[in-house]
Amino acid sequence: MCGIVGAIAQRDVSQILVEGLKRLEYRGYDSAGLAIYNDNKIQRLRRLGKVSELDQALQETPLPGGLGIAHTRWATHGEPSERNAHPHMSEDNIALVHNGIIENHDELRDELKAKGYVFSSDTDTEVMAHCLHEELKTSHSLLEALQKTTKKLDGAYGTVAIDTNEPDKMVVARSGSPLVIGKGIGEYFVASDQLALLPVTRDFIYLEEGEVAEVRRDGVTILDSNGQKVERDFEKSDIQHDAVDKGRFRHFMLKEIFEQPQVVNDTLEGRLVNHKIIIETLGANANKVFADTKAIQIIACGTSYHAALVAKYWIEDYLQIPCLVEIASEYRYRQTAVLPNSLFVTISQSGETADTMAALKKAKEQGYLGTLTVCNSPASSMVRESDFTLLTRAGTEIGVASTKAFTAQLVSLMLLMVTIGKAQGLEESKEKSIAEALEHLPSEIQAALDQAEAIEDLSERFAEKHHTLFLGRGQQYPIAMEAALKLKEISYIHAEAYAAGELKHGPLALIDKEMPIVVVAPKDNLLEKLKSNIEEVRSRGGQLFVFADESANIQSSDGITVFPIKSQYTITAPMVYTIPMQLLSYYVAIIKGTDVDQPRNLAKSVTVE
Ligand code: G6P
Repeated sequence: MCGIVGAIAQRDVSQILVEGLKRLEYRGYDSAGLAIYNDNKIQRLRRLGKVSELDQALQETPLPGGLGIAHTRWATHGEPSERNAHPHMSEDNIALVHNGIIENHDELRDELKAKGYVFSSDTDTEVMAHCLHEELKTSHSLLEALQKTTKKLDGAYGTVAIDTNEPDKMVVARSGSPLVIGKGIGEYFVASDQLALLPVTRDFIYLEEGEVAEVRRDGVTILDSNGQKVERDFEKSDIQHDAVDKGRFRHFMLKEIFEQPQVVNDTLEGRLVNHKIIIETLGANANKVFADTKAIQIIACGTSYHAALVAKYWIEDYLQIPCLVEIASEYRYRQTAVLPNSLFVTISQSGETADTMAALKKAKEQGYLGTLTVCNSPASSMVRESDFTLLTRAGTEIGVASTKAFTAQLVSLMLLMVTIGKAQGLEESKEKSIAEALEHLPSEIQAALDQAEAIEDLSERFAEKHHTLFLGRGQQYPIAMEAALKLKEISYIHAEAYAAGELKHGPLALIDKEMPIVVVAPKDNLLEKLKSNIEEVRSRGGQLFVFADESANIQSSDGITVFPIKSQYTITAPMVYTIPMQLLSYYVAIIKGTDVDQPRNLAKSVTVE
């Protein structure tokens, strides 16, 4: 989704801005642009397509200057095009970039048109630029004009603006879309994600909701929504530089798939000690809330939603507590009934997904016992808005299709399940058996990764297909759903997942010799049932690809290709079987030649509805 970078320095900033945009490319976008102040005027360069095209244009037309703002746009209002790309300008003096959506843009546009403003794009953002220009007429400073502008806006924004009449500053505002300010030596930066600024600084301040700020070469002034000055110290980021380096891998996605044994170790570190699961840092009173919890409501989107569905099986099986799981975009807009003594849980890699965030805000008004987020971004909105936080420690995930963040979510949810269980008297033997499974998980995942070459060979049989069905049962049904999502996202092959027992109620009609059916078949109490489902497909001529435990006793034969997977522990089998599914999607996408790390039309962090 959209990305913002801004800089004010003694040196030329255009290359800092372009490097920042490149680091945000993973979020997904369709056009890029920048505006640089120099010599009493603002010059703007925008391109449809990749940041590299903007960079190329900049090589041909260098834009010197020590003040600038830049943006990658993911179209919401108005098609992807150069004229809709940010920055947007008002007259010749204001340039502005914006993440989010302004909902009352039509109304504001009419007002501004009536005042004589001429619009040159179809975006909601251009309204903000003209509004700021209009407010400047009755304000003492650009910051004051921005404050007045934000009061007129309905919707979400992270925004940065510059003005030729006040060239010693950038002004920024945040409401519903994150912004971070970075500090250098005699220079300051802003961005929608600190990752963009790591080459130039590691000292950051996050803007809070409703705040505006003036960012100068010599310092920063932050005001809260009441106009009161806010004092906040810069904090050192511990984020790893190499997160944005592909290393020996061809794509970030492959690198991230292979990082999973380490991610599991990191997520368990200090939390799984001497066969015991201890999480002490969830937040004050967490144990008291967990002891009182009689039901759990989990809300998430995309891959995080699939992690939630797996957790439901664990929670109801081990804790006998009802667990409801729902997609955030549905939950937020319907009348919901809250079970007594319910804990509300959000799962989010980014911690910024607009629908999940809105669901969390709604839940806070609904009488839940408490709100908890399982999140991969320590400084995110969801972490700040929730009573309790369980960090997933996957490290920065760059590939738009989530892989290592999913595995880290599953491991974290298992730790959470045991922690809630322990507050309610979970038997020690159960904790011990889960601990044992988790201790072996990194090596089991590694063993699955070691089969990458064989899965690459297998992927050739999918590349020409237009559809694929994924089947699973029990806790592997959500894994089949996640596998189908991965294949759709990066190879653009239509894929669906079914609970294998549901096959006979419809999808069997789709089966013929052209249809590949992938089955996730670990050793568990549903294996025999699953074998019957496999026979149902086989007898109708479907092409089966069965990922099965070595002891499952399913043989490759006509119409069935069996792929052996080693997974000794039932409870952690979802994480192990996820690996070949991720690899399969990746290698199919490679054959199809798609943009694996930035699939078309998708964004990493969906900060709009
Ligand atoms: C987007 C991403 C997915 C992700 C989903 C939810 O669709 O492309 O990979 O699963 O958002 O994001 P979250 O950050 O809330 O986990």
